[in-house]
Amino acid sequence: MDRGPSTRAVHAGLPEPAQGEPFLPGPVLAAPYHLAGPADAARFGYGRYDNPTWEGLEAALGELEGGEVVSFASGMAAAAAVLVPALTPGDVLVAPSDAYPGVRQIAERQLQPRGVEVRFVPTDEAAVRDALDGATLVWVETPSNPRLDVLDVAALARDAHAAGARLAVDNTLATPLGQRPLDLGADLSMASATKAISGHSDLLLGYVAAREGADAAALRSWRTLTGAIPGPFEAWLAHRSLATLAVRVERQAVNAAAVAEFLRGRDDVTGVRWPGVGCVVSFELDGAGRAQAFLAAARLVAEATSFGGVHSSAERRARWGTDAVPEGFVRLSVGIEDAADLLADIGAGLDAAGREAVGPGA
Ligand SMILES: Cc1ncc(COP(=O)(O)O)c(C=O)c1O
Repeated sequence: MDRGPSTRAVHAGLPEPAQGEPFLPGPVLAAPYHLAGPADAARFGYGRYDNPTWEGLEAALGELEGGEVVSFASGMAAAAAVLVPALTPGDVLVAPSDAYPGVRQIAERQLQPRGVEVRFVPTDEAAVRDALDGATLVWVETPSNPRLDVLDVAALARDAHAAGARLAVDNTLATPLGQRPLDLGADLSMASATKAISGHSDLLLGYVAAREGADAAALRSWRTLTGAIPGPFEAWLAHRSLATLAVRVERQAVNAAAVAEFLRGRDDVTGVRWPGVGCVVSFELDGAGRAQAFLAAARLVAEATSFGGVHSSAERRARWGTDAVPEGFVRLSVGIEDAADLLADIGAGLDAAGREAVGPGA
């Protein structure tokens, strides 16, 4: 029988209980390991090749994603490991025009100059389908960040494969508890574990889950050569944090639904979006000034980039100049605080922003 998400998250990747041993073995901090004699005399030889703490985390994430996982130093290190070695001159990458900016920049700055054809398309099924002819790799981000559009991964996997292309999904926003891209037919599922997977805004980490062992081996080889390795302590913290993944994302989703409903009831807020999964709610205020005033006035919602943490945070996304969003577009990452406190704080922040924008005495 399939176990529930909390059970899977709590037990993922843990060794069988052993007398006198901790549930989760502590982090192994080693550059070289003691290795006498031939190079293969011990399971571990050098810290850039292998680490038992990574392996524990990878086993855990592998159970959750339903594939073989290779962990990386960050989400971008994981994305680069999928995109850079897989595409050679003459290949065709189909990528979202609204993808995470780093992914778009790898395509523009690293792949295009080397003769890879890049077709940027919006996060829209018909647009992706129209770009498939001759494609080598299709990269999608669903739900997309920050605009929260959603694609049917199973349908796209069928179409991409029929066109002879492979499908990679950025699964950061949904997490493997919200969506298992490999089960839906994708070849690779990548995520920034900096976000909800680790969930405490205290580390950077990424991973790729592969359906095929050969893909995992190629990713591991790339990681060894480029040194894009996770720190063992970060890997251990992330594994430790996985135990609460289900309770965190469930609470975040309940809070996000409440926040979205609250925002929809305000006449100073437009374009409220929440895709029904994950912690990100986006909305628009009337201009950059009002959005900044809201961020300055909110007390529980910290102004910060990133999302998925236990603390609520938000930012005016247009401040980076990398996303096609209106100046007053706010990306809000809903944390696990009490919903009533969050609604009160967001409401007070919006009221203060309204007063500020109208001006004193007006
Ligand atoms: C959807 C998505 N993919 C990838 C990344 C990159 O992850 P990292 O910051 O861990 O390198 C991010 C980071 O914000 C992201 O939001």
